[in-house]
Amino acid sequence: MKLAIPRERQQHERRVAATPDTVKKLILLGFEVVVEKDAGLMSNIPDDHYSAVGAAITPDAEATYKDADIIFKVGRPLRANEGVIDEISLIEPGAMLMAILSPFGDRAAVEAYAKGNITAFAMEFMPRITRAQSMDVLSSQSNLAGYTAVIDAASEFARAFPMMMTAAGTVAPAKVLVMGTGVAGLQAIATAKRLGAVVSATDVRAAAREQVESLAAKFVMVESEETGEAAGGYAKEMSDDYKEKQAALIAKTLAKQDIAITTALIPGRPAPTLITREMIRSMKPGSVIIDLAVESGGNCELSQPDKIIVENGVKIVGYCNVPSRVAADASALYSRNLLNFITPLVDNDTKKLAIDWQDEIITGTLLTRDGAIVHQRLAENSEKRGGN
Ligand code: NAI
Repeated sequence: MKLAIPRERQQHERRVAATPDTVKKLILLGFEVVVEKDAGLMSNIPDDHYSAVGAAITPDAEATYKDADIIFKVGRPLRANEGVIDEISLIEPGAMLMAILSPFGDRAAVEAYAKGNITAFAMEFMPRITRAQSMDVLSSQSNLAGYTAVIDAASEFARAFPMMMTAAGTVAPAKVLVMGTGVAGLQAIATAKRLGAVVSATDVRAAAREQVESLAAKFVMVESEETGEAAGGYAKEMSDDYKEKQAALIAKTLAKQDIAITTALIPGRPAPTLITREMIRSMKPGSVIIDLAVESGGNCELSQPDKIIVENGVKIVGYCNVPSRVAADASALYSRNLLNFITPLVDNDTKKLAIDWQDEIITGTLLTRDGAIVHQRLAENSEKRGGN
């Protein structure tokens, strides 16, 4: 079976879907691995590191996709009219595609996978069950995003993070507020603490308190009977009454902070607006807001994708694809996630794929098969669309 690693072509994408370490293991599993020229370059992996472990280097996209049974990618393949090439049309009918496919953001691509008889898996739909933890791309990438957000904040902040007592005077520690304490938020807390900041955090899920406090940060939360817990540990959209109370709490807390890192997301919905223009105006000049939710609409009213906006002396940073800013580590962890996903799908004796199509890891991630869109969440979506 031929397994292909194309070069990523989406704007800002520096990651790659396999490293020499995972290629070695894929070859041991029985795959013939091809890697497109320069695929690993932005993650500091030159082509000869792949060839040294047994991969063939292909000169272009056509040669990479040709006859591939399985394709590992980071982002979804480009469609016609999106860039220089139509990658989807290069995928052979019957091939399997495993990537972060963002199906809700691009229905046309999902329809193209079905039409092209591509068996497409959206890695970000991985169920959050113990068995799938090592395949969980949202966790591996969010963790690095949380870390990078703090590093970005520190580099935009014209002051130091730790308290420093010097002969010339004392430097006060930076005050950091983390909003949303899922995987990214918890890593942001841990990183800011390591840099010596005074950290507080907030979330709508009461369960987050223990996790935040175990990192020795202060937890602030709206006092309410209403709970933000939804299925799978995710958050739900809160009532208007809760939102009002939360806005008052944030306004009060934010005015005392130097840095705010926002990571709040609600599955299948736009990110909640937590920081308004008015709140920004109450912050000290020189403060920094890093909005990790900017690609989902943003937690800050003023953040804009890939821009740094300055309002009243406060910098609002909206970098997109933050994991890609630490591409070498992000690629290594993502590649491991893919390797851990495919390993149980291969029969050790025959070295062929033996997939249990009823397994919840498969039903949770599979978007299209045999020419049809099969994922429940997408089928529901198309019914709703039909009804509108
Ligand atoms: P996420 O990226 O969907 O959201 C980030 C955070 O924002 C969440 O903590 C959420 O509660 C919070 N949030 C949403 N709306 C908010 C609002 N209005 N105000 C303040 N905060 C708000 O979350 P992520 O990182 O995907 O984690 C979701 C859950 O999944 C967590 O409970 C986490 O512990 C759990 N998890 C479980 C795993 C497993 O069992 N394998 C692996 C990773 C995460």
